[in-house]
Amino acid sequence: MHENSRNHTVQSDQTSGCDHGTLLAARTYQTSSFGRMRLIKVATVALAGASCYVGILLIYTVLTHTNGSSLQPRSQQDTNHVIRHVEGFAQAGSENAPMNGSDIIRNDRNRKSTYDDARAHAQKEENVTFSIKPALIDIDQAKLTTDALYRQLVVVTAFSQNHYKEALGMIGSAQQTMPNTRIVVYDLGIQESYKDKVRALCNVELRPFQFNKYPAFVKKVLTFSWKIIIIKEAVNEFGVVFWADASVRFRQPLKALLPFAQDHHGYLSRIHSYKADTKSPIKHNFYYTHELMYKWLGVDKEKYAKSSYAPHVAANRQLVINSSTVQQNFLRPLYACAMDKNCIVPPGSKHGRHRYDASALMLVIHKYFPGEFSRENDHLKDLDEVIYMHRKSNDWETARNC
Ligand SMILES: *[C@@H]1O[C@H](CO)[C@@H](O)[C@H](O)[C@H]1NC(C)=O
Ligand SMILES: *[C@@H]1O[C@H](CO)[C@@H](O)[C@H](O)[C@H]1NC(C)=O
Ligand SMILES: *[C@@H]1O[C@H](CO)[C@@H](O)[C@H](O)[C@H]1NC(C)=O
Repeated sequence: MHENSRNHTVQSDQTSGCDHGTLLAARTYQTSSFGRMRLIKVATVALAGASCYVGILLIYTVLTHTNGSSLQPRSQQDTNHVIRHVEGFAQAGSENAPMNGSDIIRNDRNRKSTYDDARAHAQKEENVTFSIKPALIDIDQAKLTTDALYRQLVVVTAFSQNHYKEALGMIGSAQQTMPNTRIVVYDLGIQESYKDKVRALCNVELRPFQFNKYPAFVKKVLTFSWKIIIIKEAVNEFGVVFWADASVRFRQPLKALLPFAQDHHGYLSRIHSYKADTKSPIKHNFYYTHELMYKWLGVDKEKYAKSSYAPHVAANRQLVINSSTVQQNFLRPLYACAMDKNCIVPPGSKHGRHRYDASALMLVIHKYFPGEFSRENDHLKDLDEVIYMHRKSNDWETARNC
């Protein structure tokens, strides 16, 4: 993600001081010695955080060979819940490459979080004697404090002109409840004369969605491919992302939800129901998902219909924290689907009968997060205390300019 270095630079300004301390500022030193190119990496981690409660410095030393990976698993326990490498996706994009179930996460209800709050991701650098590394997040490797996650959180949305006012209501409620949280707006087609109005909003950054980087069908915004693409790009850039449709409103800061997402490998959304035959209060997306999408993603529709684990996952509000699991089991399958029109918008699919990104999301959580969520642990009530939906634009004037 080379184009993202700008943001990393911004973050590195905050590495000192307890108040706006950053997660980690890793100074990476590298020396080559003993002819074998053995690297000694010493990462000096400045532990920041409001309280500065633990120690100030943690010296983390890793010995690896040049081609070694940067971190060794600390113990078997570390690897217990780290998912196996995904193979099926290399072929994704080719038409006849349905994904199969060899790459699912293990069910890990017994997992206990024993990680330190901060641990450096010492990374290999080419001939660089000193550098401040960006704050990388992989909560499968190292859990983070809620404060640290909250500092990284970015609210991400995207809209075209017809959702301008509705989106302003969302932005207004984000500004009100989370006055220090960045809001990134991807422009899906905002009229020229409105762009400056969006840029003038407090905490808001407007950026174009680069349709040209993606297959032609992505330009048809009703395929919703862009939503998956944006979530992936944003997670890779910011590490902690809340995706908000224009209709989202916040009652409280998202901070309250971060520990729950962390408990689920970094993913949390509202799960309306768990059985495909659910008709009320919200009709299950099972009824709005084209059968070719099941095939593409390698889910047996008959079995899905009867499954006791068929989560109907809301696509309009999603909290995503970066982790190996989120990368492999969430972003990878979704993105592969979003890049192939035979998956996201299969031949014969129609608006009103198929739900594109939401359909893919439903199948991906079913298949790649097996057994991860249940009514006992999905925090439905907590989600509803923080977020509600408002499919109107009568509150657009709550958005503040800076
Ligand atoms: C998954 O697909 C690969 C490649 O088609 C195949 O070799 C493998 O046996 C499949 N695994 C399962 C569990 O179906
Ligand atoms: C490292 O950087 C120095 C200074 O720019 C340069 O002279 C040297 O050739 C570089 N070494 C390698 C291995 O790239
Ligand atoms: C996200 O996690 C992956 C996998 O551990 C890692 O390679 C990547 O650098 C992380 N990205 C961010 C922005 O933290």
